[in-house]
Amino acid sequence: MTVVELLERKRDGGTLSDEEIRWLITSYTADEVPDYQMSAMLMAIFLNGLTGDELAVWAESMLHSGDTLDFSDIPMTKVDKHSTGGVGDKLSIALAPMVAACGLAVPMMSGRGLGHTGGTLDKLEAIPGFRTQVDPSEFHHLLKTIGMVMGGQTETLVPADRRLYALRDVTGTVPSVPLISSSIMSKKLAEDIDALVLDVKVGKGAFMQDEEQARLLAETMVGIGTRHDTKVMALLTAMDEPLGTAVGNANETAECIEMLKGDAPPDATEVTYRLGEEMLVLGGVAADNAEARTMLEATITSGSALEKFEEVIVAQDGDPRVLEDLSLLPQAPEFVELEAPRDGYITECHARRIGVAGVQLGGGRLRKEDEVDPAVGIWVFAKEGERIERGQPLARIGWREGAKLGAAMEILEDAWTIGDEPPEPKPLIIGEVR
Ligand code: URA
Repeated sequence: MTVVELLERKRDGGTLSDEEIRWLITSYTADEVPDYQMSAMLMAIFLNGLTGDELAVWAESMLHSGDTLDFSDIPMTKVDKHSTGGVGDKLSIALAPMVAACGLAVPMMSGRGLGHTGGTLDKLEAIPGFRTQVDPSEFHHLLKTIGMVMGGQTETLVPADRRLYALRDVTGTVPSVPLISSSIMSKKLAEDIDALVLDVKVGKGAFMQDEEQARLLAETMVGIGTRHDTKVMALLTAMDEPLGTAVGNANETAECIEMLKGDAPPDATEVTYRLGEEMLVLGGVAADNAEARTMLEATITSGSALEKFEEVIVAQDGDPRVLEDLSLLPQAPEFVELEAPRDGYITECHARRIGVAGVQLGGGRLRKEDEVDPAVGIWVFAKEGERIERGQPLARIGWREGAKLGAAMEILEDAWTIGDEPPEPKPLIIGEVR
């Protein structure tokens, strides 16, 4: 078998056998196939796709490229949630303790900010002392004893994805349904979960800008999960404007703490509860969405979700006093407001532009090695459909460096559109795939 033969076949629209795919992924992970040949293969897949059978073997080979976790000694049902990424998408931080407080185990393995989208690990690290590097044995211990853990991907889990993702990033092959779905699902299946709820974002601030592509991605990921005997469902949710008010790191974590105390913006609340309902039903602790909703609400009114989050913060070396005093989170030294230039209705509050402005402020990374400034951020005060008067604040911006503020403001000035008529209301939950 030579790589060139496989490349030529895939280039010409042919299919690869199971054995060929396994060999290719294993050899690439072992450094026996060079990046230039794998780049060509990724582009051939980007252009010609993979058949259902090829994709199943591709994903499975990635999954088995390194260690997999084994939680079989933990009696609780293990359920995770994964978002394809958005702006202001802080939901995991409140959702995981709510679901864990209902009796499910939540092995939340999260990522860092990518491009204009934020990452749960960066947001959690805004809590003074909070440690997101958790090795596999501690991950196991925390899941078993607390029923929840919030950490980063370990080095040995799905090494093929680490290498393939970096290669895709520099070869224009990221936005491909088979490549995204195998990347996400191989990592999730390596977590030894029983069930998974996917939040597939659709819209201006998402990877998938149109619903048809998002649905195809959702169907493909659900298909991979089903083949691996893992219960998977996907919600398609709107990401045209940021979720909630806060876009940043410390401010998003603060918003989640408020959510755990029952005080959160309605859009973030709606999506969080709906994802939670699906997790409880798939995890088998609620008979239907209505019962799940009641259980989730009880975790807020009783304070059990907040207590669960406190346990996790303490176990992962964070300062739990932030739960009572949000001023212990990093604070931006300076603030400025962006005012509405005219009266009217907000017809657009552009998630991607606001996300990019947050990165420019220092809240995300322009280069991989950049440090994130947890204190800076944006508070979005005007969302689509709202009536606004000239001079009213559209947003509040917490900043540290003047040059970064200048770059962010230039983008923010184009992030809102104000019209004479209110726009058609759009649903937050666009659809579901089972
Ligand atoms: N997130 C992932 O983990 N992989 C992708 O390919 C895209 C988003």
